[in-house]
Amino acid sequence: MTEAIPWIEKYRPKTLKEVINQEAIVTALTNAIRTGNIPHMLFTGPPGVGKTATAHAFARDLYGERYIEDGHFLEINASDERGIDVIREKVKNFARTIPMAGPGFKILLLDESDMLTAEAQHAFRRVMEQFSTTCRFILAANYFNRIIEPIQSRCAVFRFKPIEEDGVRQMVERVARNEGLEVDEQVVKELYRISEGDLRKVLNLLQTASVYSKRITVDLLYRVAGLAAGIEARRMMELALSGNLTEARKLLWQALYVDGVSEREIVSSMYSELFYLSIPETEKAKLFSLLGEVDYRISQGATPEVQIMTVLSALHALSGKRS
Ligand SMILES: Nc1ncnc2c1ncn2[C@@H]1O[C@H](COP(=O)(O)OP(=O)(O)O)[C@@H](O)[C@H]1O
Ligand SMILES: [Mg+2]
Repeated sequence: MTEAIPWIEKYRPKTLKEVINQEAIVTALTNAIRTGNIPHMLFTGPPGVGKTATAHAFARDLYGERYIEDGHFLEINASDERGIDVIREKVKNFARTIPMAGPGFKILLLDESDMLTAEAQHAFRRVMEQFSTTCRFILAANYFNRIIEPIQSRCAVFRFKPIEEDGVRQMVERVARNEGLEVDEQVVKELYRISEGDLRKVLNLLQTASVYSKRITVDLLYRVAGLAAGIEARRMMELALSGNLTEARKLLWQALYVDGVSEREIVSSMYSELFYLSIPETEKAKLFSLLGEVDYRISQGATPEVQIMTVLSALHALSGKRS
């Protein structure tokens, strides 16, 4: 049996030296620590490439192991909070005292900051200005262009790259050595392909696969990958169908941008799961044809989130009509 602790936590880099595949960023941050010249920063890039992990590793290298307990570092996740007022209060409480030891300022990480509306971002920018003497801000976001310009221009921007095949190999080797897994080269290649350079996804797939066997084969990997997307697709469809579109959308967002499930997998899982939904056959037929259109439009470059939402909305419209 594997332990209860998720591998994405177990294999979170403890120091900048352990951050994989983001050499330019690691060099810049290491220099910033050496010189003590630390600006506000904006970390952008796709899910699972180390934005959150690097912010933590940076703070730990700067302040030491007790960077959180000693009050130097606070993480706020914009997608968990109910609004800018709650966030402002938290920042205020955190940043109003100047730390006794250390470089004279604290670090606040606002994670998933592109979840804030433009209006909330403007309010946050004022908070940044208000506390910039005692606090440096790191904002993490999947999409650079969802961050308002006044914040972009106040931050040093770090663009995180998708993890390359060598980076995936490095992580797989780290885990395999430590967990006693047997992983052949073809599995590394497939993990790279399926994950699209998302290490969160690599770790989750490996951990799930390892529950079945210490010998990870390509077949096992496929089974596990299909299973994960299927469960998420079913849950979001059930939520939409039970009238809870907001929760369904959250789950979709989580799947696409946090768990790094690919849109193709979600759409094809929705296709398989649709058979099992308890709705009238005629409605099912309409949904299949909608799903076909969505699949096509995504292949032509339409925004996956928007497209998949049309299916969830159609399901939502059926809530109350279950057979
Ligand atoms: N560049 C990286 N180097 C080492 N581990 C990484 C890297 N990127 C992601 N990981 C692993 O994946 C997990 C999730 O990464 P995270 O930093 O939360 O991704 P992001 O914030 O970019 O979505 C981390 O806890 C770590 O285990
Ligand atoms: Mg993150």
